[in-house]
Amino acid sequence: MITHDILIVGAGLAGMRAAVAVPPDVNVALLSKVHPVRSHSVAAQGGINAAIGVEDSWEAHAYDTAKGGLYLGDQDAIEAMCKEAPQDILELERMGVIFSRTPDGRIAQRPFGGAGYPRTCYAADRTGHALLHAMYEQLMKRRCKVYEEWYVTALLVEDERCCGVIAWDIVHGGLQVLRAKAVILATGGSGRVFSTSTNAVINTGDGMALAYRADIPLEDMEFVQFHPTTLKDTGILITEGARGEGGYLLNTLGERFMKRYAPEQMELATRSTVSLAIGQEIQEGRGVDGCVLLDLRHLGRTKILERLPQIRELAMEFAGLDPIETPIPIRPGAHYQMGGVKTNAWGETDLPGLFAAGECACVSVHGANRLGGNSLLETIVFGRRAGTRAADFIRDCHLPPIPATHLQRETQRVKTLLTNPGPERAWQIRDDLGKTMSLNLGIFRTKQSMQEAQHAIQALKARGQLMCVQDKGQIFNTDLIQALELQCLVEIAETIVVSALGREESRGAHYRADFPTRNDTTWLRHTRSRRQPDGPQLTYTPVTITRFPPG
Ligand code: FUM
Repeated sequence: MITHDILIVGAGLAGMRAAVAVPPDVNVALLSKVHPVRSHSVAAQGGINAAIGVEDSWEAHAYDTAKGGLYLGDQDAIEAMCKEAPQDILELERMGVIFSRTPDGRIAQRPFGGAGYPRTCYAADRTGHALLHAMYEQLMKRRCKVYEEWYVTALLVEDERCCGVIAWDIVHGGLQVLRAKAVILATGGSGRVFSTSTNAVINTGDGMALAYRADIPLEDMEFVQFHPTTLKDTGILITEGARGEGGYLLNTLGERFMKRYAPEQMELATRSTVSLAIGQEIQEGRGVDGCVLLDLRHLGRTKILERLPQIRELAMEFAGLDPIETPIPIRPGAHYQMGGVKTNAWGETDLPGLFAAGECACVSVHGANRLGGNSLLETIVFGRRAGTRAADFIRDCHLPPIPATHLQRETQRVKTLLTNPGPERAWQIRDDLGKTMSLNLGIFRTKQSMQEAQHAIQALKARGQLMCVQDKGQIFNTDLIQALELQCLVEIAETIVVSALGREESRGAHYRADFPTRNDTTWLRHTRSRRQPDGPQLTYTPVTITRFPPG
């Protein structure tokens, strides 16, 4: 049986940052279903926020974050993140992150939506890539054991605490028990619940589902952010940095329509405002082939090549146009889950020994709408915090014996999938789930659309019982992994729908056409979703307000 002091599940930025924060005398290991540098953090483009400008302050950053999140974020956690951000950026720089620079050699910062100052540090439009590779170097230096291409099927809960996981070894096949005094979930988001998404295919909400099945509440799952600018047809992210550098949004009349929705901030209003504006333009017939246009031509060739080289490449490869000469057709797409596994500001969940950080967690700093550039920051600050707190937790901590029933249960689960005669296939159910969610739980929602999604999910669950895995082998059985991922996706989708049906107001990313206004009297509260045999059960908890009263 494998044993570690701390086991981190997920090797993106939050997971690796947590590992690097653990003192060298602690036996820490990372486990990921992909190689660490293939984690989705690598796809982050525009940047990471920190108040390092002379005229900026952490308080201004905290205010923008609270306000941008429509006051649903917990302000103790927001304060911790914004206060610690500058130090974390300097540390990243010392680790070797190649940030873009100002002419006088300082870390360059660009404006992002909803921010009062240009606060987003960046490495051209490949910031996640730069951060992830630097962090991987630190991980190698730390000599941390990495289980690459392993998939966790269940958390081990014994004596009312988490004491490890059961995981499938994708390369060799077979289930193994991995014991650990503390487990940190850092598995990223669940964007693949939707068909139009900026997320990698690996973003299937695994960590959220693992915690949910272990009776840990998921918080604020109704708040799914739709990024305003994703590429037509593919949903590939076109960074907010493009608007931060001065890009315009145009409708079919050639009009900068944001002047009617956010005359002061224009294209740099918060994401929920811009996405809703684009949705409305398209709905009212001023779109261009189901999209609007992102115009960068006036930025000029030099600036585009220096600051937005990847965007140009993506537009050329996937839309067949060069943004130096032609505007890019874009539309909103699912991008980020503001909700997740409920934790405090140190990554602790309700279950002793279980921690969570990054997108799979809900600390909650983003409230109803995350500001661009705060996601990379969250991975770094709360990854570090979770690693530090887990290292304290494991001192003087002893693992209970693990009964064989845990492994037997998971073995039976895999066996059922491998022997099921079908006829359903995971990819078909996944496809239908994505379409249902994009159609009914997109930027505009109504009771009727969400109830349709709810019924459809019940049907998809039933089809899931008839799912067959055609590859019966042990080695690299990606068919089996997809089936396991699908079970996570369906459960997570259900929590999104039920939480969204429960919230009868509009706030940030949750826009209900049947309840179009924000209602602080009743709804300035978090939604908690707990797993019950007949679906998610909702309760509500207060929001922590410290210095910024809702306005
Ligand atoms: O637009 C972007 O570059 C995305 C940034 C973010 O989601 O933080």
